[in-house]
Amino acid sequence: MPLVVAIDGPSGSGKSSTARGVASRLGLDFLDTGAMYRAVTWLALHLGVDRTDTDAVAALVSGATFDISVDPRSPRIAINGHDVTRAIREPEVSAAVSSVATNLAVREHLVAEQQRMIRAAERGIVAEGRDITTVVAPDADVRVLLVADPAARVARRQAELGGEVDQAAVTDQVIRRDRDDSTVARFTEAAPGVTVIDSTEQSLAQVIEAICALAP
Ligand code: CDP
Repeated sequence: MPLVVAIDGPSGSGKSSTARGVASRLGLDFLDTGAMYRAVTWLALHLGVDRTDTDAVAALVSGATFDISVDPRSPRIAINGHDVTRAIREPEVSAAVSSVATNLAVREHLVAEQQRMIRAAERGIVAEGRDITTVVAPDADVRVLLVADPAARVARRQAELGGEVDQAAVTDQVIRRDRDDSTVARFTEAAPGVTVIDSTEQSLAQVIEAICALAP
């Protein structure tokens, strides 16, 4: 059976960079499930669909087609033919994504799609996102919850966005999203069988190393 590695964690915990690094090291595919929630959010904003209209957003996602590159060296995502790899990182999408991710019909649809992609990964896969170890891939060979102190998470997100951004705005985004997401995805405590790794004092290379060491 191909290896499946599942990495969970809150905003700024480093799960994307870590998951990409682990996938490159082990020669596996890479799936960023957050990018899918972001892409649906981008589409709703692009089409002017009211995000609080749960039925309209559910209809949007069930009719959507994704084109996702699972190469960890060049992850890309397109929705309905639009390449949104960059656009989904814009602040408007970050600010709106929780409202789409709390729509249960959206979750059901995307979780099924993610499970299909994981099953289809012939060389194995590293999948990351907030419900990966619990809902999407509870049977993964390696399950990790990556945590870090809020201050470290804010600093990382700020570095990622570039020097110009306002710290208060980033703090609000990271901390508020923790709260908004907590109604749907659990990431402050690990489910049984999930290894918790605290990355606050560790470099990216150290965390990648620690996860690779868990692989059978
Ligand atoms: O930017 P950050 O690392 O916090 O998150 P992301 O992985 O890009 O995911 C963006 C948002 O999508 C999260 O804040 C959640 O609202 C949602 N999400 C989710 O609900 N379930 C997942 N498996 C992945 C993301």
